[in-house]
Formats: sequence, structure tokens, C-alpha cells
Amino acid sequence: MRIKNLQEYHEAYSLSVEKPEQFWADIANEFDWIKPFTKVLDWSFDDYSVKWFEDGQMNITANALDRHLKTIPDQAAMVYEPNEPGDEAITLTYRQLHARVCKFSNVLKAQGVTKGDRVCIYMPMIPELAIAVLACARIGAIHSVVFGGFSAQSISDRINDSQCKLVITTDGAVRGNKTIPMKETVDDALVSCPCVETVIVKTRTQTPVSMVKGRDLWWEEEEMQASDVCTPEAMNAEDPLFILYTSGSTGKPKGVVHTCGGYMVYTAYTFANVFQYNPGDVFFCTADIGWITGHSYLVYGPLLNGAISVLFEGIPTYPDAGRFWDIIKRHQVNIFYTAPTAIRSLMGFGDEFLVGKDLSSLRVLGSVGEPINVEAWQWYDEKIGKGNCPIVDTWWQTETGGLMISPIAGITPLKPAFATLPLPGVQPILVDENGKEIEGNGVNGNLCIKYPWPSIIRTTYGDHERCKTTYFSTYPGLYFTGDGCMRDEDGYYRITGRVDDVMNISGHRIGTAEVENAINMHTGVIESAVVGFPHDVKGQGIYAYVICEHPTINDELTRKDILATVARVIGPIAKPDKIQFVTGLPKTRSGKIMRRILRKVAEGEFGSLGDTSTLLDPSVVDSIIKGAL
Ligand code: WT7
Repeated sequence: MRIKNLQEYHEAYSLSVEKPEQFWADIANEFDWIKPFTKVLDWSFDDYSVKWFEDGQMNITANALDRHLKTIPDQAAMVYEPNEPGDEAITLTYRQLHARVCKFSNVLKAQGVTKGDRVCIYMPMIPELAIAVLACARIGAIHSVVFGGFSAQSISDRINDSQCKLVITTDGAVRGNKTIPMKETVDDALVSCPCVETVIVKTRTQTPVSMVKGRDLWWEEEEMQASDVCTPEAMNAEDPLFILYTSGSTGKPKGVVHTCGGYMVYTAYTFANVFQYNPGDVFFCTADIGWITGHSYLVYGPLLNGAISVLFEGIPTYPDAGRFWDIIKRHQVNIFYTAPTAIRSLMGFGDEFLVGKDLSSLRVLGSVGEPINVEAWQWYDEKIGKGNCPIVDTWWQTETGGLMISPIAGITPLKPAFATLPLPGVQPILVDENGKEIEGNGVNGNLCIKYPWPSIIRTTYGDHERCKTTYFSTYPGLYFTGDGCMRDEDGYYRITGRVDDVMNISGHRIGTAEVENAINMHTGVIESAVVGFPHDVKGQGIYAYVICEHPTINDELTRKDILATVARVIGPIAKPDKIQFVTGLPKTRSGKIMRRILRKVAEGEFGSLGDTSTLLDPSVVDSIIKGAL
């Protein structure tokens, strides 16, 4: 399964294209199957359906935990670094993690959770979050992790969309010097979630919380009574493993569904290869488990490989901007995986936070979530990697489940800001607006994938049509990523950013329509239009043009109220960076907002607005420009 040099990469790649079924079957057979598969792949991108290893039975936790009990029971599986640097780090060995997952599996079972039931998890980055995820997987319940920064409204939308019957949360969370309520937010969400029967609450902050009789239970009390023996449920490879909501160009986030077998094979394979993980290495992924990066490369990928995975509760700037470097020293981290936004932010604090930090344990660096600019790439390379660590710029998406275009550490020759080459099994293709393939090198186009890989999205929960139209209808017969991409003279890929109405704010995906809907909920707002604009640290910032019913009495106050509304409806991450009050929006005669113009104004490029003659009222543009100056 492990590629050791460039020639092996090319060989693996060729085999994966010429004989994909043989290629993936060989890798899949390295895992423990309860019932071996006989069929490898069945697929159609026209009437979308993909099935990998469909008649095989397995359980991902049997592979991520039980399998290692024979070989490395007392090796660390997870190292928890708490928010407070002075607090003791907690290590869970494979034996300990296995026991705690089994116990919590039994807790869930005792509450009547069975195979196929949906469970919502809304927790901070503590070991119990990983335990809750794995316990669901063990009993065949479908986990739906909601990032701890989302609002009550967002939680209830997600719970109702997938009809979760149980929620797991904590009393509160600590992030930097802030204490954040969790249970209270869940309580607010549950006012409109009749499907939820049970809430399990882990103590973290000792914040007083209300516990509803007959519904709410304490994690500690339930775990204490539970047995640590739990046979993993036999799952069909194509049974759903989890749902993870992500934003698109429409207002409502969609539940991306991944299934057990293909996701296991692909995350394990890509983790081992891209990061060139060696037994005993310490791997530190800074992403929250609430995002796909945390699912695939903090929990599943590393554990499937018997790796040591660091789980960090806090933020990169607490107690100061040297925190990541202290953690690297403290836990002797060998592989460090973070986002460009974090790199740029830490860069901005200056090199003084690097003075005296011992980063000599590092061997491989990774980047994920958004395009990394050359300046940040070089700083990462020189200041963190000391010119000695390959940087893997990994391009992928919630929908792809695992890394797609990425260097293989130490093997693929690098180019700053390039995701470089497709991994084995990934067949990218660039197309023009009309879906015509753009061949050759030194070209730009829309990035599509033309053949299924094992962890491709299977459906959007409860609405397969939506999955088909979102990903497989723009360019028939192809999976459309929503990203623009260039392929240079050497055939290297560089992702240039989204070409749809999705923004990438600090590596988080937020739909423009979602933010507009939230702003429009504010009293007095008639209409709004949201676009992304280049932001030094966040990659993109959010720029909102807002039309109010009456001229506002106090612009500053109204701005703050709108921010509060957005934070309440979606969460603080969706708050606009700039709000401009306008009296009209540039619309075509058919009523479509010309975002191209709004984007240009947000970028400060007033001179090159292009053709505005098709606008219903071209004078709107002048007044918007005046307001922006
Ligand atoms: C979008 C997916 C799965 C990674 C976490 C974000 C952008 C992701 C890169 C990269 C340039 C990147 C794309 C993609 N993106 N990685 N290495 N270089 N852009 O997952 O929330 O599903 O967002 O993030 O635009 O479509 P996500």
C-alpha cells in the first residue's frame, strides 16, 4: 500500500487508471473484513450511483482499534493537548481508546440507538468527541458532527434534516481565554427538534446547565455503568458511516453522506502515502473534528494506520502565537498538518514567537483548506520546516472524503503553491464553460473528476436529486468540484479557488446565499448581496451589500446588529467583514444580481467593471462605487 519513490508513484497511478478495480481491491484486502467482498465497483455518473466493495461486510472501528490490539495495544493512539498549556496532556493508548469506545457504544445502545439511527455530536475538541464518533461507527449509528462554533439555529436545521434521535454535547467549552456554552446552545436548538429523545452531556467546564428529566443524561454516570465489551456491528461496505453538512451555492447546507468501506480504504491509503507515516511518528492535525479534515485525518486515517494522533483543544494564539510550536516540542510532533489561514495569521505575529522553539522533530508539513500563497508557503518552509521538511499542499473537499491532488511527502518534486499531481485513483480533467475537455498543459479550466474513487460522496442526505444536480449535472458524466484550476507546463495542478457562489473564509466553506438569508432576517433589511473579497489572513473575507427599508439612524449600530443576527442564525464564522449600505443592487433585466460587478467593487477594482449595459439601471453602479470609496 505504501509508495516509496517516484517511480512507484507513477506505477501505482498507471495501474489505478488501467485496472482500477484490481488496484483498489488489493488495497482493500489489507483490512479486516467480516465478510470479504466479491464485487469491487459499480458506478454511473449519468444517473449518479457509486458502490464500492458492496457485498463486503466490515466495521471501520474493528480496523481502526481492534486490529491494533494484537500489535501495539500500549502505544498511544491519541494525545490530548488541553486548552491550558499548564494542564496535563492525556494519552489514550489503543487499548484504552478501544475500551472507552466500547463502553460508550454500550451507553448508546442502552439508549436504544441502533444501526442506521442518526446521532448529532456537538462538542469541543476533547477526547470524548473522538470517542463519541467511533462509538457511533462501532454500533452502526450514523454520526453527524456539527462544528462547535455553529449557532443553535444551525444545529436544529441539521438535526431536523437528518432526524437525529440523540445528541451528544458538553456543558461548555474553553477556547483560549473564553468559556463558551454548549449545552445551553443545544437546549435552544432542541426547542424545535421533536425527533430528539436523548441528550448525553459530558462535563468540561462545570458550567451550570439545565438537565431535563427523562431526556438529559450525564456522560460520566452512563459510562461508569457500561461494560467495555462491545462486538462491532457488521456493516455493509455501502452502509452510511456519517453525514457532514457543508455549504453550497444555495441557502441550505447539504448533508454529505460517506459510507463505511470506501471511506475506510481511501482515508487509510491517502494518510499512509501522502504523509509517509512511519510507525511511531506523532501526527498533529490542527483541524477541528467538526470538519472533514478532522474526520479523515485526525480520527479515521491515523487510527486506521495505528498512528499517534494529537488532538488540540485550544487555539493557535493562546496563550500566545507560539502555541503550535510549543505543542510540537512537547509531543515531539513529526508531521504537522494545518491551514494557510493559520500560517498567515502566525506569520503576522512576527518571528519573535519562534525564538528558542525546538522544531527539530518535524519531518513533514501539510497544508489544507484553501490555496496557499507563495509567501506563506515560503515562510512555512523556511521558518517551520527549516528548509528540511517537504510541504504537502493537499487539495480535497468534504465531498471527496480524502485527499485528491497532493504531493507525496519527500517523493513528489514540489512547487510552491501547487497541489502538484493527482493521487492514485484520481482522474482529474479540466473543462471549459461548455463542458469541453481542455487538453494539454499550460491551461486553465473548471476542475472535474471523471472516474469514481472509493470515498466519493454517495448522496446528500434525504435528497439524492440534489446530489445529482449539484455535482453531476453541470458537466454531464463528470463530478464537478466547483473549483477553478490551472495545469502548468509540467502537468502540475494549482487550484485557483471556487468558481461558484461559495466563499472560502479561513478555510471554511460558506455559501453567499446562506449569509444573505441570515442578513435578510434582520429587521428593516429589504435585500442583500454577499461576495467574497481577498483578505490577507483569512484568504477571503465576506463583503455584504445591504439595502435597508429606511436610511439607518446610526450606521455603526445597524452594522453591529446585522453581525449579531448573522452570528445567531449561522455562527460567528459567517459574520461579514464589511457591510456597505446601498440603495440598489446591479440587476439584469431578468432580475439576476450581477455579482461580477459587486466582486470587483469589493476588491477595490473600480476601473475594470466590464460591460454594464445589460443592467436594468446602470446608474446603480456609480452610487455603489461612491459608497465604497
Ligand atoms: C474547498 C473544499 C477538505 C479540505 C478542507 C476544506 C478549497 C481545499 C485546498 C488546497 C486550494 C483548497 C477548495 C475546495 N481547498 N484544499 N489545498 N488548495 N484550495 O473542505 O470545506 O469541503 O472545502 O476548499 O476550494 O473546493 P471543504
